[in-house]
Amino acid sequence: MELKNAVAVVTGANRGLGRHVAAQLVERGAKVYGAARRPEAVDVPGVIPLRLDVTDEASIREAARVASDATLLINNAGISTGVTLIAGDVAEVRREMETNFFGPLAATRAFAPVIEGNGGGAVLNVLSALSWYHPAGLGSYAASKAAAWALSDATREELAPRGITVSALHVGYMDTDMAAGVPADQKVAAADVAAQALYGIEAGLPEILADETSRYVKQTLSVAPQPNAG
Ligand SMILES: NC(=O)c1ccc[n+]([C@@H]2O[C@H](COP(=O)([O-])OP(=O)(O)OC[C@H]3O[C@@H](n4cnc5c(N)ncnc54)[C@H](OP(=O)(O)O)[C@@H]3O)[C@@H](O)[C@H]2O)c1
Repeated sequence: MELKNAVAVVTGANRGLGRHVAAQLVERGAKVYGAARRPEAVDVPGVIPLRLDVTDEASIREAARVASDATLLINNAGISTGVTLIAGDVAEVRREMETNFFGPLAATRAFAPVIEGNGGGAVLNVLSALSWYHPAGLGSYAASKAAAWALSDATREELAPRGITVSALHVGYMDTDMAAGVPADQKVAAADVAAQALYGIEAGLPEILADETSRYVKQTLSVAPQPNAG
């Protein structure tokens, strides 16, 4: 889709990757709603703040009513709790799934009729290399991103006849708050990932592999799981 005439809703636009995506969309001539739990925290010039908590369906419905001219939904908002699936607090596992899976699902369900009514458009889901690689220490996060990968594939097929393309962006570590504890040489620039995301949307790519880690992990999908250490 052409970004110049797009009307985008970016979730989690107040910081991190979402802030870069919102800023670059403005530079490209799009109209941009910056969705955030605290809209007052959205500080990108030219971006229209919009209240939206991806775990609150009423706020999503209200955001879809306000942004009734939307043609592009960027499901970027996410959390990483760092809990493991067995020893970790199951309430945290559920919170992660609510945010990273049910959040994009609810936003897509609310905005699909809006985008369709405006003549079609696109959805981008921000996923992770951990959609495909599931280390124990990040088991809960990885499960939520694997679920969001399935969401991306299934909604791509379901929404295609309605004129809506669905892209999934996979990336390893980025230089945002979420990966603050990761050494700098293991992170890619979120600004660069944002640029690749926009290129992918414009090109209608179903899958955007934004760094070496995501490309490597994708390649290893056919490798058998590691045996139990015992
Ligand atoms: N950083 C990485 O290394 C990395 C790697 C792969 C994928 N990702 C994915 O990239 C996306 C962006 O993350 P980031 O790296 O930019 O992290 P970040 O800097 O921690 O930003 C996360 C954003 O999501 C928002 N958010 C969280 N829960 C929300 C909710 N319930 N409703 C609305 N907004 C909510 C946050 O808003 P508040 O300010 O209100 O908390 C913030 O704007 C996420 O989906 C993440 O899983 C990140």
